[in-house]
Amino acid sequence: MSDDFILQVNDLHKLYPVARGLTGMLRGAEREMVHAVDGVSFAMRRGKILGLVGESGSGKTTTAMNILGLVEPSKGEIRFNGQDVQDMVRGRNRLALRRQMQMIFQDPYEALNPRQTIFQIVAEPLEVHGLVRNKAEKLERVETALSDAGLKPPGNFLNRYPEDLSGGQRQRVVIAGALVLQPQLLVADEPVSMLDVSIRAEILNLLRQLRDTHNISILYITHDLATAGFFTDRIAVMYLGRIVEIGPTTDVLKNPKHPYTKALLSVVPVANPRKRRQRVILQGEIPNPIHIPQGCRFHPRCPAVIETCKTIDPMLQPTQEHSAACILVKTQEG
Ligand SMILES: Nc1ncnc2c1ncn2[C@@H]1O[C@H](COP(=O)(O)OP(=O)(O)OP(=O)(O)O)[C@@H](O)[C@H]1O
Ligand code: SF4
Ligand SMILES: [Mg+2]
Repeated sequence: MSDDFILQVNDLHKLYPVARGLTGMLRGAEREMVHAVDGVSFAMRRGKILGLVGESGSGKTTTAMNILGLVEPSKGEIRFNGQDVQDMVRGRNRLALRRQMQMIFQDPYEALNPRQTIFQIVAEPLEVHGLVRNKAEKLERVETALSDAGLKPPGNFLNRYPEDLSGGQRQRVVIAGALVLQPQLLVADEPVSMLDVSIRAEILNLLRQLRDTHNISILYITHDLATAGFFTDRIAVMYLGRIVEIGPTTDVLKNPKHPYTKALLSVVPVANPRKRRQRVILQGEIPNPIHIPQGCRFHPRCPAVIETCKTIDPMLQPTQEHSAACILVKTQEG
């Protein structure tokens, strides 16, 4: 089974202690916890693009940090090519993990050292991982990575500095720095949200092309359902530390099951005004993840709430093709 799946996340939890402050400490108040990720399960097939979509604070980046092995889960496990990521981090496969999974950050301005040339930036990971034997090999791999990232001809970029480049070009350098290690999985956390709207599609198209040519799997993290809609194969919608709906992108967009997904979709602009959904305006803010509501965590804001929702915590069926964590959906399906 795990051959098909590059990534499996099973019941992931990540809690952080809340700073108590002096009075809290003196009063001996019990330490409260932030439930940043509160029971996330999903699997990703090799060579596919999965979108992890949710509002700010829903736990997307925390999920990514756990997947990359940069923080340790409070509970649950992550398997990469069938291997436990925490075992990899602690054992001999640590460098393999750091090579095979690459992260693309939101801000291409911060990710690049302004004092290094583009050549130095893209060559550095090769040196860290001891992957090249001589200068010629290093140059060849850097040029290939730049060219695959759409910076052509690569010779025009090698001796330039990040400040000489546009935002889109800088993000391409970041992508080249990941590609040079020939990764299997890219975790891209809001990779285009800081870029000019006009070049967002360009960068996403580049990533999709890399998936097609290099069979790279991509976890695309965003708050933007519109870009996730055209870029991904599957979408997982997160709310307050959980995935509340997961399914093939076209199904989720055409036939959303969870009231939260319906509300999110109702405010996404569509080209054809006749297809416009009635806007669902959600009441209130996303609750504080220190105190997760009892029962269905979405119930204080849900337009379809019934009494039972206050006591039953509906679970997702992550193995189903399209599933939503809502008691009404379960009833409909019998
Ligand atoms: N190191 C930490 N210590 C304490 N709380 C944290 C920590 N990291 C994240 N959190 C909290 O966990 C919750 C989830 O945060 P996370 O950064 O994963 O959300 P996100 O979905 O990536 O949001 P955004 O869209 O704003 O990037 C938030 O309430 C956040 O404040
Ligand atoms: S379980 Fe109830 S509150 Fe939760 S999403 Fe479904 S209808 Fe809404
Ligand atoms: Mg984030």
